[in-house]
Amino acid sequence: MRINTPSSTLRDWRPDDACSLTKHANNPRIAANMRDGFPSPYTREDADRFISMAADRTSNLFLAIEVDGEAVGGIGIHRLEDVRLRSAEIGYWLSESCWGRGIATDAVRSLVPAAFEAFDIVRLEAGIFSSNPSSMRVLEKCGFVREAVHAKAITKNGVLLDEVVYVSFG
Ligand SMILES: CC(C)(COP(=O)(O)OP(=O)(O)OC[C@H]1O[C@@H](n2cnc3c(N)ncnc32)[C@H](O)[C@@H]1OP(=O)(O)O)[C@@H](O)C(=O)NCCC(=O)NCCS
Repeated sequence: MRINTPSSTLRDWRPDDACSLTKHANNPRIAANMRDGFPSPYTREDADRFISMAADRTSNLFLAIEVDGEAVGGIGIHRLEDVRLRSAEIGYWLSESCWGRGIATDAVRSLVPAAFEAFDIVRLEAGIFSSNPSSMRVLEKCGFVREAVHAKAITKNGVLLDEVVYVSFG
């Protein structure tokens, strides 16, 4: 898959992205806002493992965010299971060197329609840590609605946080 946005290209991960993935993802300021499955430190082995896993499209769609020919971030859709089969989650991260240029907003805005098309979903949600106002702002700019606050639902790096749930119905 390849989607051109005003500030980046969203495209499949490739084995030769491992070096740039390691370079940009290895940042505790990124990991602090991600679930614990996002490694910190982020090693070359983590990058190779992720890129192999991203090739399986059964329930997930993981794309690289490419800027100036380099994979500088990632955006993904994870389809939920069982009775939540028609829901999916969206997640994303971007190299700190690229923050504040609207790149994540363009990526989310462009991927949402593709996610509803790729999977038979009626609901796309994101659970944002209460310590992450910039990600909430990204979702608000993309038309997501703040649906719920799950109090004390998150423990990240030993700190108790609320989870703010944002949703798009396509
Ligand atoms: C969250 C993240 C993806 C945002 O990427 P980005 O490309 O810098 O985002 P954008 O430039 O599109 O938009 C950021 C918005 O947040 C705003 N913002 C930044 N810091 C803020 C703060 N402390 N409080 C409120 N708003 C803030 C910006 O002003 C901008 O809004 P604006 O366009 O109305 O001015 C990036 O910071 C990141 O990768 N963070 C670490 C990982 C992460 O949080 N992932 C999301 C988890 S679901």
